[in-house]
Amino acid sequence: MEKNLLIAPSILSCDFSRLGEEIQDITEAGADLIHIDVMDGHFVPNLTIGPGVIKSIRNDTDLMFDVHLMIENVDKYIPIYSHAGADIITIHSEVSENILRSIKIIKDHGKKAGLAFNPKSSIGILNEVIEKIDLVLIMTVNPGFGGQSFMENQLEKITATKKIIDNSNSEVLLEVDGGINESNIKYVVESGANTIVAGSAIFSGTKNDYKLNIDKLRIY
Ligand code: DX5
Ligand code: ZN
Repeated sequence: MEKNLLIAPSILSCDFSRLGEEIQDITEAGADLIHIDVMDGHFVPNLTIGPGVIKSIRNDTDLMFDVHLMIENVDKYIPIYSHAGADIITIHSEVSENILRSIKIIKDHGKKAGLAFNPKSSIGILNEVIEKIDLVLIMTVNPGFGGQSFMENQLEKITATKKIIDNSNSEVLLEVDGGINESNIKYVVESGANTIVAGSAIFSGTKNDYKLNIDKLRIY
């Protein structure tokens, strides 16, 4: 068991008709972060959570909001999601025209900055930016939808990312997102991840199951 493992339930898999209660229930169940998947219908085919929704749930938990922006025009939207209540803002390496500028905008708003990589993307740029960011997000599904199958072929990329983080002088969280469940989390953590996003594996059953679902991931 990894002691310092952070579990970040993705609310994409929760019951949106009871969003506030779901946030409260998942907080009580022992979540460490609330992972919020923002999609724009362009960068990914799906369309999800706007800033107004984030604002409306900000008072339902004291946990940090880990906002995963799967959108284009990030520089325009970073301030908007910052004001809505994001604590960590993760942008995709594939969309930002100028990653360093986007990271600076996040930092200028007093937020933690994350950089995400799709399964097909190279992490080459990481060496240049690692000391300026707080989190790296490695996708283990093609972003867009919850409930997809974990892509095992991304494990090597997790290991390579861990090496880059270890060789830097910074404490950067290594987050992995997509298809993680109690059967495969072992490989993800052994490859170096310390922050785990899980949607369908956590929001299954009723709210009484959430604690057990999270605990099963922790003891993998
Ligand atoms: C995918 C999202 C993920 C997803 C995780 O585009 O970024 O956060 O909701 O859900 P599961 O754990 O069901 O793959
Ligand atoms: Zn996500």
